[in-house]
Amino acid sequence: MRIPVFAANWKMHKSGLEAMAWVREFALLTRELSADAAEVVIAPPFTAIAVAAEAVRGSHLTVAGQNLYFEREGAFTGEVSAGMLKAAGALSVIIGHSERRRLFGDTDESVRRKVAAAHGAGLTPIVCVGETLDERERGDTLAVLDAQVRAGLDGCSGDQIGALILAYEPVWAIGTGRNATAVEAGDAHAHIRRRLREWFGGAYAEHTRILYGGSVKPENIRELIGLADVDGALVGGASLDAASFASIVKKATS
Ligand code: PGA
Repeated sequence: MRIPVFAANWKMHKSGLEAMAWVREFALLTRELSADAAEVVIAPPFTAIAVAAEAVRGSHLTVAGQNLYFEREGAFTGEVSAGMLKAAGALSVIIGHSERRRLFGDTDESVRRKVAAAHGAGLTPIVCVGETLDERERGDTLAVLDAQVRAGLDGCSGDQIGALILAYEPVWAIGTGRNATAVEAGDAHAHIRRRLREWFGGAYAEHTRILYGGSVKPENIRELIGLADVDGALVGGASLDAASFASIVKKATS
């Protein structure tokens, strides 16, 4: 039984104070939610991680980073290491988000190194994969997913595969209001799980949580979470408002 994960990716939004207010409101709205019904993760910008980690203490929320650099320390101006995230209170970290790949030069190889760094620091990687609209229209979706999953997770042990989180986020669905249909999402998720079984072994692949991301909102979460291989959601825009994210989590778990 895979416990679903709902992760709020705040991107470049919210100060520490705003994060605290969000946590307070979310906790009130979800006080009926039983702790084993879902894992809920918030990913604030680096500057709000420590404050958010303090704010969630004693609740069922945990905190994630949105990115990391794979070196431990050194002359890397502007970068943050896995160990620093951990020390600030994060338990997991988003890696290879399509915005990082498209705007900041992340590649499958840097994703692989970041995943290894996260594991080295004891953080759970949340590894994002997904095809662009061009790739989908060319019929390359599954090949792109294969390449991203294979290269990004290369070197992971079976146990690490079972414990990490993948997020399938079709690039054309992120921030566009256009989510994948149930058939599109279902096919991609089933394909990814099939590959995990082939490459890493069924016993581990059954534990990997595969989240869907891309224009998830209260109106479409029920259909998505109903799919066999969808184990939660990575939510951007609709997670900025505590009430709408609470509504997503509640609809998915009721
Ligand atoms: P969105 O973003 O929910 O705003 O589409 C999802 C994501 O980028 O993780």
